[in-house]
Amino acid sequence: MSETVLLLGGGGREHAIARAIAASEVEHTLHAIAGNRNPGIVRLASDFHEHDATDVERVTAIAEEIDATIAVIGPEAPLEAGVSDALDGMGVYVFAPSRADARIETDKAWQREFMHDNDIPGCPTFKTFDDTADAIDFVESYDGDVAVKPRGLTGGKGVRVTGDQLSKAEAIEYMTEAAYDGWVVEERLIGEEFTVQAFVANGSIRVSPAVQDHKRAFEGDEGPNTGGMGSYSAPEATLPFMTDAEYDAAIDIINATVTALDSYKGVLYGQFMLTADGPKVVEYNARFGDPEAMNTLPVLETDFLEIVTAARAGDTLPQLVFSPRATVCKYAVPEGYPTDPTSGSLVTVDEQTIATVNKRYRDDGGEALLFYASVDERDDGIYTTTSRSFAVVGLAPSIAIAESIADDALSAAGEGVRIRHDIGKADLLQRRIDHMDQLRAR
Ligand code: AMP
Ligand code: GLY
Repeated sequence: MSETVLLLGGGGREHAIARAIAASEVEHTLHAIAGNRNPGIVRLASDFHEHDATDVERVTAIAEEIDATIAVIGPEAPLEAGVSDALDGMGVYVFAPSRADARIETDKAWQREFMHDNDIPGCPTFKTFDDTADAIDFVESYDGDVAVKPRGLTGGKGVRVTGDQLSKAEAIEYMTEAAYDGWVVEERLIGEEFTVQAFVANGSIRVSPAVQDHKRAFEGDEGPNTGGMGSYSAPEATLPFMTDAEYDAAIDIINATVTALDSYKGVLYGQFMLTADGPKVVEYNARFGDPEAMNTLPVLETDFLEIVTAARAGDTLPQLVFSPRATVCKYAVPEGYPTDPTSGSLVTVDEQTIATVNKRYRDDGGEALLFYASVDERDDGIYTTTSRSFAVVGLAPSIAIAESIADDALSAAGEGVRIRHDIGKADLLQRRIDHMDQLRAR
């Protein structure tokens, strides 16, 4: 039987998922739904449906029309809109959690209470509030720095951390003005952040190597938080600032979480802060990370659709095999991103440059990949939206070579985009290592 796969979402993460699906030995056709025409996905899919992926009626109508057998959901918004439940209800196998299970991402108060109630290790001290005034009173009375988090989804841009980005007085002003429905206030964690993405189904959990994303807009970790400016991973499962035991402690937390969730399926993304006391959970996401999917899927040697069909059959998931290569991903974003992005300007990427870089590094075991993100392909070219435009990924036997590949490949970028060139460079990595050494020595 040939599978008809429906992929939802039009970012760099979904281009990476589309590439993994297209490489599958499982006979299939790929359809995609996204609000923007991502040229990378358009090329890989047999049909591209330009629609809002959170529109439950539209998505189910398309699924019916194409007779979809499998759905893969990239972003969180369709999960919150109930798209997975609707597709599941019509007999499509959805490799993503139900709306209820996606609360681990969509409701940060629920997530913290769930961890606390189930004695899951790695939960910071926290308090949840329905009322902004009560949350502010607590911030004022709390002895120490805090992270204040709107309870619901904010596209990764709602959290403020005192003593880091702003003072307590500024955090309170932010909370007063933002007027979100409910808050989590928690202790400020100090350390280095990393992500582990796990494939989950039928109680079976398969983890991938750790990745470090860079949320701040500017080089040297300055400026406002973004959706993520780029990320790297090592040839092994750990990162240079992390011990094997620290990685294993993060995996124990993921295992305890999945066990307590019971029915979870899809990808569970753990965002951790590696502190002097080991990893703590910053947040969970109910999907692959963006950019992290672009680090992990290109080194995944296990067939993506074989994982999904094993999940559907109720089997334990296959063991995952990752090629022992480092990855460095760097995003090109519109000028002004994230506060005042210039949308509707022409994006040029010289794909020949990427091909040339590929050839140059081939003998060293290196490779350069291009992933299109939140851009819109029209008759006369590719245009920016208000989000990240495209990413390049270097793959190589070491982080240093992968970084050189990514930087060389970025010479393909035309005018009008901004890049954090420091991601994956030796001095940034050394700063992370020194930071953890200092914290552990205290
Ligand atoms: P989130 O949207 O929960 O991932 O938070 C966005 C960013 O805020 C994280 O990537 C961290 O850099 C930071 N953050 C969130 N919670 C904490 C915390 N408890 N302590 C320190 N930083 C945090
Ligand atoms: N890399 C951040 C996210 O996917 O939420």
